[in-house]
Amino acid sequence: MIVVGNLLGKYIEDAVPLRDENKHLGIKWPTPEGEVLKAWNPITQKEVWIVKLQGNQNDGVLSTSGNLVFQGTATGQLVIYSADKGQKLKEIEVGTGIMAAPISYKVDDEQYIAVMAGYGGAELAWEGDDEALNKYQNAGRSIAFKLNGTSTPLPAKKIRDTIVPEPPPVILSNEISKKGGKFYQSLCESCHGDFGETHFSDFPDLSMLAKPIHESFNDILLKGKLSYYGVADFLDVLKSEDVEAVHQYLISVQKERFEKIGRTIKSSYAPTIV
Ligand code: HEC
Repeated sequence: MIVVGNLLGKYIEDAVPLRDENKHLGIKWPTPEGEVLKAWNPITQKEVWIVKLQGNQNDGVLSTSGNLVFQGTATGQLVIYSADKGQKLKEIEVGTGIMAAPISYKVDDEQYIAVMAGYGGAELAWEGDDEALNKYQNAGRSIAFKLNGTSTPLPAKKIRDTIVPEPPPVILSNEISKKGGKFYQSLCESCHGDFGETHFSDFPDLSMLAKPIHESFNDILLKGKLSYYGVADFLDVLKSEDVEAVHQYLISVQKERFEKIGRTIKSSYAPTIV
């Protein structure tokens, strides 16, 4: 029996509809299933069982000769199924999204299951509120389990900072910030995602930039000021007026959020009156 995590259905579901002349290419595609764990019998070429999973990127699986299947989930549990029927036998709350496959080993006649827990890669930017990293801090760790072991220590809770700093008092042009919105969609959104309540990602929410980041915005985008932290410059795709447009767009979103929250803290942008 082989156990696979199936993502294919999701991509087919999201795929651009085929043009009329290419419709025949899609005829034999399976119906979308979303993320599932599936047991497949390679001899009969038939599915034996299937379990629907939550969250994005539920990965590695371990199956044992003792009729067990172990899988860590994006939502932060280690789940154990019976290998023949896919019946859920146990679910251990780990609080960290698990992408790696669990392993099994024995020390002094005691059986262990260990897993590298941690969630990362491009997934950090894929939004979804089910993933463990939206509830707990996403620090990678290795965890080993055994029968009658102690309870699993949970990571620290994730604190979602909702204080929107005051945006700089820039006079915004609708036309320019609209143009910036288009740049945001094509060049930034894939990593930085949405804003505010719908920002589920470990990358910064660009609608709540602090004053020093606003002041360094051009240097970050055009001179690679944050390249040490992995943010390359965009000099090859953005001119300085384009950067200005993205900045205006982000300021307009920050302004809207700031005004909605109605914060009345003393402005750090206003000149100090002595
Ligand atoms: C490939 C992913 C990726 C893309 C695309 C991307 N960024 Fe980022 N950006 C990051 C990461 C990761 C960080 C956080 C780096 C760090 O740890 O300080 C970041 C940080 C930033 C920061 C600093 C935020 C802060 O509060 O410290 C700004 C500003 C920023 N990005 C602007 C942009 C803009 C504008 C675009 C589009 C033109 C963009 N980024 C596209 C990954 C990306």
